[in-house]
Amino acid sequence: MNSINFKRHRRLRSSGTMRDLVRETTLTVDDLIYPLFVHEGKEIKKEVPSMPGVYQLSLDYLDEEIEIIKLLNIKAILLFGIPQYKDQHATSAYDENGIVQQAIKKIKSIDKNLLVITDTCICHYQSEGHCGIPQNGKILNDFSLEIHAKVALSQVKAGADVVAPSSMMDGFVSVIRNTLDENGYHDIPIMSYGVKYASSFYGPFRDAANSSPQFGDRRTYQMDPANRLEAFREAKADIEEGADFLIIKPGISYLDILRDMRNTFPVPLIAYQVSGEYSMIKAAAEKEWINEQEVVLESMLSMKRAGADMMVTYYAKDIATWLSRHDHDNKRK
Ligand code: PBG
Repeated sequence: MNSINFKRHRRLRSSGTMRDLVRETTLTVDDLIYPLFVHEGKEIKKEVPSMPGVYQLSLDYLDEEIEIIKLLNIKAILLFGIPQYKDQHATSAYDENGIVQQAIKKIKSIDKNLLVITDTCICHYQSEGHCGIPQNGKILNDFSLEIHAKVALSQVKAGADVVAPSSMMDGFVSVIRNTLDENGYHDIPIMSYGVKYASSFYGPFRDAANSSPQFGDRRTYQMDPANRLEAFREAKADIEEGADFLIIKPGISYLDILRDMRNTFPVPLIAYQVSGEYSMIKAAAEKEWINEQEVVLESMLSMKRAGADMMVTYYAKDIATWLSRHDHDNKRK
């Protein structure tokens, strides 16, 4: 007889089938958004040194890449352009023949059902690598908004399904919403990077997108990692201004914020597993210090558990492959 009174939690973990049955959070390929870097020029397939497995591709490599994405059943991509020409006012970001605009048309011609989300920012196009237009060492807010509106409009005109403004200028959602509406694009949603911290985890991305700031840093527009309440203010304003989705970024170090946003705002939430998170896992896996697949899946699951509806991840293609193998192996015997 058991005279001590305690709970037997292990009953619900007793076998694989039991664990499958009581699992609270699951991951599917529908949760994934794959970032893609498209480089102006020809015959470019350049691996990002700090992000093994991530490439800058020129348009001629897109057929192959989009076919793979389709085969893996990934539903959405987040598109970044790397132009050959940069200037003070980031004009190549809203050129109707700019790299992103061309890429959207090409991708849609290969697979019209792939959801194309565009990063609406100018740091890769602006000569000093800032997300707004600098003047005398400061980043102009309102003037930058005009440029961001032009960028968003040009992306939508080229065929983007969703725009994802990421500059963190005040009012960026409002200006973009108005511009899209005035031009008849009421149905195009805005996925705002509304809760974006000034994070050192973005280091490798700046390699990938050639977008390091030439002076100063991004701390006058991105959020202070020490702050939590600020996330509520930013998110609330963005949703009032018309954001349809909210991105929380980075992922793994900001799960508390993700949970806060989940508990407060009834909009779809996206966690962005950023470049530094990817590179850290890659590097440790290359040294065989951790199991890459298990660590990646666990971090994805943790973001969903914290409240994300979907994740942007450079691991999307790997995850899609692992999940389909898992589904196959997981058939009940
Ligand atoms: C553009 C942008 C950045 C990232 C996404 N969009 C860079 C930045 O803000 O410096 C970072 C993505 C990553 O690190 O994976 N503003």
